[in-house]
Amino acid sequence: MLDDHGAVLGDLFAQPFTSAYLGAVLAHDYETHRHLLNVGMLSARVAQTAGLSRDETVVLGQAGLFHDIGKLHIRRALLNARHTLSEAEWRILRAHAARGEQMLNAQGVPALAAIVRSHHERLDGSGYPDGLRGMAIPWETRLLSVVDAYDAMRSGRPYAIAIAHEEALERLIAADHLFDIDAVAALAATLGAKHANREALARIS
Ligand SMILES: [Fe+2]
Repeated sequence: MLDDHGAVLGDLFAQPFTSAYLGAVLAHDYETHRHLLNVGMLSARVAQTAGLSRDETVVLGQAGLFHDIGKLHIRRALLNARHTLSEAEWRILRAHAARGEQMLNAQGVPALAAIVRSHHERLDGSGYPDGLRGMAIPWETRLLSVVDAYDAMRSGRPYAIAIAHEEALERLIAADHLFDIDAVAALAATLGAKHANREALARIS
C-alpha cells in the first residue's frame, strides 16, 4: 500500500480549485499555508497506515489540505495574535470550520466539506461547531484531528513554542478524553514511535 504513496500524493492536489485556494492562503498567511501542506501530506500517510481505501485516503489527504481554508476569511492579525483573545475574537476564529465547509460545498465536494466542518470536534464534546461526542465524530475526522494537533504542537505558534516529536505524541496519548487513542496509534506507527515513552505507547500498541 505504501508503494502507492507517490501516486496518492499526486491525487492530493488534483482538485481543480487547489491552486487557487492554496495560492490565496499563501498570500494571506504563510503559517497557515505551511500547516495545510503538512497536514494534508501527513493525513494521507496516516490514512494508509490506518488501512483506509485508496479513495478514502485521497479524501482524507485533501481534507487535511483544506481543513483551515475558512481562515482565508479571518484577518491575518487575528490569526497571529499574541494577546489573550476576547470571546468575540474566539468566535471569529472558531467560525473557520463552518466557513471552510461552506467553501468546499460550493466547490461540489461534500465529503471534504463534512470532514472540514468537524475537524475541531473533540471526544468529550468540548469541540466545535457541533459539540459532537465520541463515535459520533467520523473516524476520518478523528484521524485528521490528531494530525492537525500534532503539526500544531510541532510547529509552534505565536503563543506557544514548538515541542519535540516524543513529547507531542505523549501529550496526544495523555489527552485521550479529546483524541481517539487508535488514531494516535496510527500517527505514532506512521512516524515511528520508538523514542516515545514506552509505558504510554504500550497502551496503544
Ligand atoms: Fe482548524
